Amino acid sequence: MMKPKTEAEIEAMRRGGRVLAEVFEQVSDLVSAGKSTKKLADEINILIEQKGGRSAVIGYEGFPEYLCISINEEVVHGIPSPKRIIKQGDLVSVDLTIWYEQMVVDSARTYYVGDIATAPKNVQKLMEHTKRALHAGIDAIHGAGTKTGEIGAAVQAVLDKAGLGIVRDLVGHGVGYSVHEDPNVPNYGLPNQGVSLPSGLTIAVEPMATLGDWHVNILPDDWTVVTRDSSLAAHFEHTVLINKDGAEILTS
Ligand code: MF3
Ligand code: CO
Ligand code: CO
Repeated sequence: MMKPKTEAEIEAMRRGGRVLAEVFEQVSDLVSAGKSTKKLADEINILIEQKGGRSAVIGYEGFPEYLCISINEEVVHGIPSPKRIIKQGDLVSVDLTIWYEQMVVDSARTYYVGDIATAPKNVQKLMEHTKRALHAGIDAIHGAGTKTGEIGAAVQAVLDKAGLGIVRDLVGHGVGYSVHEDPNVPNYGLPNQGVSLPSGLTIAVEPMATLGDWHVNILPDDWTVVTRDSSLAAHFEHTVLINKDGAEILTS
């Protein structure tokens, strides 16, 4: 069921989205070589709670931590661990999903550990085009009546042109009353496919791209999604509001 949010609910999601954007600004300074992903996650979670947010993923379908950190060939749903140490040159994807005033907002960014200008060219390409694909998907939203296929097609066009793999097993989604709501928002497809989005709907748009093939596996921890060919992956996500004639990014 797709239920548009009320104006009061949207206001709460704007405030929650602003919290996530502020936290992400600080995450870039916290991601550093030599630190464990558990330590990084705890530091981020403290920032979230200081700002009045609360993790929406701990306990979600049994997920054991406050947020997801996925490194290199890990695409999404990485579980923070005191044993996993971040190193120079890693690609660190941080996915934050929080409750704020009874509403959920969801956003992710990938960080390069080190000076991005010195990163291998293909890593720069992966980061840049995955982020660009996210914004192309959001820009394809022309308001109420936009089909999810229009978003998918716009995301796919950018990633295909860059020669990147598009992870297909995971998709964007409605968000707000809970972490995952209808509809699915695939990162591929044709403009006439999918469902028509009403004004007031809030969705997470979240391309996941790889330097290789699109196939993924799940690690024995039952959560971490990795590329089957071990190629590097990036993930950028915003929660957006469908309005009368466009979209509003709530998590920037
Ligand atoms: N934030 C994820 C998403 O974008 C959901 C994570 S669910 C978890 O859809 F349980 F893995 F944390
Ligand atoms: Co997310
Ligand atoms: Co999401």
